Amino acid sequence: MLEITGLGHSYGAHRVLEGIDLKVGEGELVTIVGPSGCGKSTLLRCIAGLVPPSEGKVVLRGAPIDGVPDDLAVVFQDYSRSLLPWLTVRDNVALPLRRRGLAKAARRAQAVEALASVGLKDAAGKYPWQLSGGMQQRVSIARALAYRPALMLMDEPFGSVDAQTREDLEDLVLQVHRAQGMTILLVTHDIDESVYLGDRVVVLARNPGRVRDELPVTLPAGRDQIGTRADAEFVRLRAEVGRLVRGVVKDSEAADALDAKGGASVEEPVKK
Ligand SMILES: Nc1ncnc2c1ncn2[C@@H]1O[C@H](COP(=O)(O)OP(=O)(O)OP(=O)(O)O)[C@@H](O)[C@H]1O
Ligand SMILES: [Mg+2]
Repeated sequence: MLEITGLGHSYGAHRVLEGIDLKVGEGELVTIVGPSGCGKSTLLRCIAGLVPPSEGKVVLRGAPIDGVPDDLAVVFQDYSRSLLPWLTVRDNVALPLRRRGLAKAARRAQAVEALASVGLKDAAGKYPWQLSGGMQQRVSIARALAYRPALMLMDEPFGSVDAQTREDLEDLVLQVHRAQGMTILLVTHDIDESVYLGDRVVVLARNPGRVRDELPVTLPAGRDQIGTRADAEFVRLRAEVGRLVRGVVKDSEAADALDAKGGASVEEPVKK
């Protein structure tokens, strides 16, 4: 469904992403983990057509991306800036549904249903600024779910919610993914979450951001918070992703230290 080839991006002279190759199949749920600043959000912005990459290309269902594709929803990391303060929660969630050509009543009904699924039915008539950070984040998740996109990009979507809500939202994402056959790319800092949710985990390294490794998650599709996390295969995968992420962090810290001293990088040399 999605094919990223040789993607690189620089902000001015700052090289953030390099040589990213990634294929995502129809209906797959791929999780992306990597250290802070490795370019995860930049990668999602390139896929969403919000930032034109400096190099390489992103092809969605056979068409190169130039601009934001129609059948896409994004849950931004910075949820507090992604809701419109002058619209009620319900109208925020219903707004993108105009693009779906739905009548007003249908838009509102779909919005309320999505809000109920994230446990916020009673907040429908409130304004975003009347809600806590975690509730605002759930509103942006509801907005993406209501749109029922073919491809959903989620950038640290559960960062500000409490542990219990986080588990509930993880299970909601799995349920929606199964029921609607949606393709999902989800960025997380949480190693357990990357394994619990993913059909595949992609580990990114930084300076510049690139794919360090990919691990298929060989766990049965029907996952549950207690059973799956106790499964021997889950424990093995978590340890393996943990080792990869720690390796990435250790390498880049060493690289940062050497860079600061003006020495050579321990990571692969940057192509000039
Ligand atoms: N609009 C921008 N202009 C200039 N530099 C930017 C911009 N956005 C991000 N950067 C820089 O690019 C690098 C990667 O940022 P990005 O937000 O993609 O990382 P990230 O992996 O999502 O980090 P985090 O885990 O903290 O969210 C950082 O060094 C950041 O300072
Ligand atoms: Mg980010």
